[in-house]
Amino acid sequence: MQHQVEGGGLRLFFALPLPPALRETLGRWQPARPLARPSRTDGLHVTLAFLGDRSAEALLALDTLAAAVAARHAPFALRTAGLGGFPGNGRVRILWLGLAPSPALESLAQDLRDALATAGEAFDTKPFRAHITLARLRQPRPLAAFPEPPPTPFAASDLVLFESRTHGGYAPVRTWPLRRV
Ligand code: 2AM
Repeated sequence: MQHQVEGGGLRLFFALPLPPALRETLGRWQPARPLARPSRTDGLHVTLAFLGDRSAEALLALDTLAAAVAARHAPFALRTAGLGGFPGNGRVRILWLGLAPSPALESLAQDLRDALATAGEAFDTKPFRAHITLARLRQPRPLAAFPEPPPTPFAASDLVLFESRTHGGYAPVRTWPLRRV
């Protein structure tokens, strides 16, 4: 399965992938949830900027832009925090894991978004709110119905452009190691 968007395009977003050990931890936590459609553990990520549909030709410009952004940021430490949900009014449909506040993460997301805006690349401009989507619930449920996964530290070391596939799953398209030069 290659191109998912009509006309041969790609549905793209920039994100930080989670390291395998954390994906495994969260994968073990997820199956216990009732009424949930869990995220596939191989695609768990922190979205930095959602671009939407692009032609394959757009990849060249994104490559140049992302390489420059990744070269301005050193790898940094993150830590998972408490559960949250969308919408945030008691009963939630999208269940996510928050992250402990991280100036390095905010700075990377802002730099990437600034670079996209400067290059005239369209993206979803809803304010950045760092989270890892764990499950989409079939029916809204109180957040309190779900036990908290333990806070877990992990390293952010790569900026990744992902393709969101129509029939589920996210596939990395390009990876740039974070490496302040
Ligand atoms: P999420 O960050 O809440 O999980 C691919 O769809 C990824 O981009 C998902 O992680 C998704 O939601 C995120 N995303 C952010 N803005 C989006 C938008 N406008 N449409 C679809 N997905 C979006």
